[in-house]
Amino acid sequence: MKVSDAIQYVGVFDGDIDLFEGQYAVPNGVSYNSYIIFDEKIAVMDSVDARKCGPWLENVEKALNGKAPDYLVIAHLEPDHSGSIQAIADKYPDMKLVMSAKALTMLPQFVSASLASRAMAVKENDSLCLGSHTLRFAMAPMVHWPEVMVSYEESEKTLFSADAFGTFGNPETDAWLPEARRYYFNIVGKYGSPVQTLLKKAAALDIRMICPLHGPVLKENLGFYLDKYQTWSAYAPEEKGVLVAYGSLHGNTAKAARYMAELLEAKGAKVTVLDLARDDMALALAEAFRYDHLVLACSTYDGNFFPKMEDFLLHLKAKAFQKRKVALIENGSWAPMAAKGMKGYLEQMKDISVCETVVTIKSTVSEKNKEQLAALADELLA
Ligand SMILES: Cc1cc2nc3c(=O)[nH]c(=O)nc-3n(C[C@H](O)[C@H](O)[C@H](O)COP(=O)(O)O)c2cc1C
Ligand SMILES: [Fe+2]
Ligand SMILES: [Fe+2]
Repeated sequence: MKVSDAIQYVGVFDGDIDLFEGQYAVPNGVSYNSYIIFDEKIAVMDSVDARKCGPWLENVEKALNGKAPDYLVIAHLEPDHSGSIQAIADKYPDMKLVMSAKALTMLPQFVSASLASRAMAVKENDSLCLGSHTLRFAMAPMVHWPEVMVSYEESEKTLFSADAFGTFGNPETDAWLPEARRYYFNIVGKYGSPVQTLLKKAAALDIRMICPLHGPVLKENLGFYLDKYQTWSAYAPEEKGVLVAYGSLHGNTAKAARYMAELLEAKGAKVTVLDLARDDMALALAEAFRYDHLVLACSTYDGNFFPKMEDFLLHLKAKAFQKRKVALIENGSWAPMAAKGMKGYLEQMKDISVCETVVTIKSTVSEKNKEQLAALADELLA
């Protein structure tokens, strides 16, 4: 598939992987992107997950049409991109491997030690001339691993952005935004500050096209994508709205959560309600970051609180959730403890303001609870 006259897409779509990185549901699959730049010298941009090594090598061979590549440029050594380095290196023994100095130190963890003799390390602002195309390298440590670098092709003003700007799903059919948000916050979200550093470098470049390692090539309206990354990496809410996330054993806390959602909607708020036991945890995390407000409603469980809610709070903490206003609803039949437990986690996060009103339900939602929920809705949106 042509990306431009000189750049071809040779990536592969993985439609049969059950979980990405061993935990993220990818109902629409995920692509491992790889590109070839054709010039006097030929550069392959990244390899793919070992799961799809065979089809990828076929794509590469077909695109090369009898030629051999001069370089494999390696942006990132995570196995979804390094899993086929050994295979392509074995197939094209004269091909050099180009990567960051950090990647060079990590390379033997992923391929045979002898490949190091064919590797060259590049540093910030180094360039690699292919003929009329020139790759200029910029280090992007911790976007998503420490060895990551991106490449800017000067003649076509194309940024090969590694995992940044990537998304789950089928690049040919799926919309970028919802899955890109879920991808960003779950995969890269913890590293807001390194992403900001990369965005600063990107701002100094004239970028006409972005070629990420997952999802579609971005050719138009690049400001939209850059702006989303700016917002997300600053941990700023993307839009006004409320995620109501609940954990409920017998359904009464769920009822309270839905009642709260109705109250908030009646006040004009955009609301998403998610059941932490049944809905996708990665989606819940992404929706929490998307909005400026969060409601947590949870049952007490064995003197503590519903484990799925604890899991959600652990995920939020791990991804540096911050700068949000949160309302708490708890339920318990004899000694409600959920609010205390949830507060304990929220206190460990930065710039979280918890509403003073905490609604405590004793088993089923009472008329008094309804009044309290109305007051809580007022306080949350105030
Ligand atoms: C396994 C189990 C453990 C529970 N532990 C407690 C508890 O420690 N303290 C308490 O007040 N209620 C406890 N409860 C009662 C629930 O918290 C209460 O019935 C629930 O919050 C009602 O809301 P729900 O219908 O949304 O589950 C427990 C219930 C179950 C099933
Ligand atoms: Fe990665
Ligand atoms: Fe990746």
